[in-house]
Amino acid sequence: MKVTVVGAGNVGATCANCIAEKDIVSEVVLLDIKEGIAEGKALDMWQTAPINLYDTRIKGVTNDYSATADSEVVVITSGLPRKPGMSRDDLISTNAGIVKSVTENVIKFSPDAKIIIVSNPLDVMCYCAYLAAKIDSSRVFGMAGVLDTARYRAFLAETLNVSPKDIQALLLGGHGDTMVPLPRYTSVGGIPVTELIEKDKLHAIIERTKVGGGELVKLMGTSAWYAPGAAAAQMVEAIIRDQHRVFPVCALLNGEYGMKNIYLGVPVVLGKNGIEKIIEVKLDTEEQELLATSAKAVRSVMDVLDNMKMF
Ligand code: LAC
Repeated sequence: MKVTVVGAGNVGATCANCIAEKDIVSEVVLLDIKEGIAEGKALDMWQTAPINLYDTRIKGVTNDYSATADSEVVVITSGLPRKPGMSRDDLISTNAGIVKSVTENVIKFSPDAKIIIVSNPLDVMCYCAYLAAKIDSSRVFGMAGVLDTARYRAFLAETLNVSPKDIQALLLGGHGDTMVPLPRYTSVGGIPVTELIEKDKLHAIIERTKVGGGELVKLMGTSAWYAPGAAAAQMVEAIIRDQHRVFPVCALLNGEYGMKNIYLGVPVVLGKNGIEKIIEVKLDTEEQELLATSAKAVRSVMDVLDNMKMF
């Protein structure tokens, strides 16, 4: 079984490495447009196999989509990352064209693939890939919720001084500052988080989560890669092993949560067919309002895509 990661930048390379270390597929293809970079990173990773003890072959290629043929899952990380002072939405004019052409190439060689988008602005790039791929939306979706909840869970684990393994959390909405972490659906070893932490501390963690990507851009001058790469790899594993994991994923809504024709983060069941099911949880009035605000922010970026007249 083969998985392809398009884009051998920081996120793509980290993702490929995480997938290989999981030892769940026979081959990972890493593709980039820059001559030698995917080949070099793939070779470097492959030389960790005798140390980290896995069998997955990692192959790097420059723009050769024929090498990606018949991939079970394709992760698209292509495009520019954020620089300090930029929002994810500022990337649309460059990244939409890239995501469109990458998706068209990918689907030509792997018509049955599940496509995971990581490029930003995430929600709208999912929509762009969906329009370009012309396949069912259960096979085109985005990685954001796994990353955003991981940040939320990491902050909570640190504050409560408990294992991050025991923190379960849900987060809805777009992958931007309007994302909606849900304290009502956050628990620590089965205990509602609100029982364990003061309101103001929880509020501060939620606010930090919302700008969690920006915090890292400020520190490093570019966007994050360890957690984004690991998060995408976890989604790949759920599909390859048909785990039916329940993750927040950026999915096309068709009436769920009262919305249509928009990609937004919602809880889904992830298995061998991609999105096996979108789960609708009950929201109170405040949560509904926050989700509506997030959807509005995503729609405004969708309008920018529409105005680019690419489709
Ligand atoms: C982040 C980027 C990957 O949130 O969107 O770090």
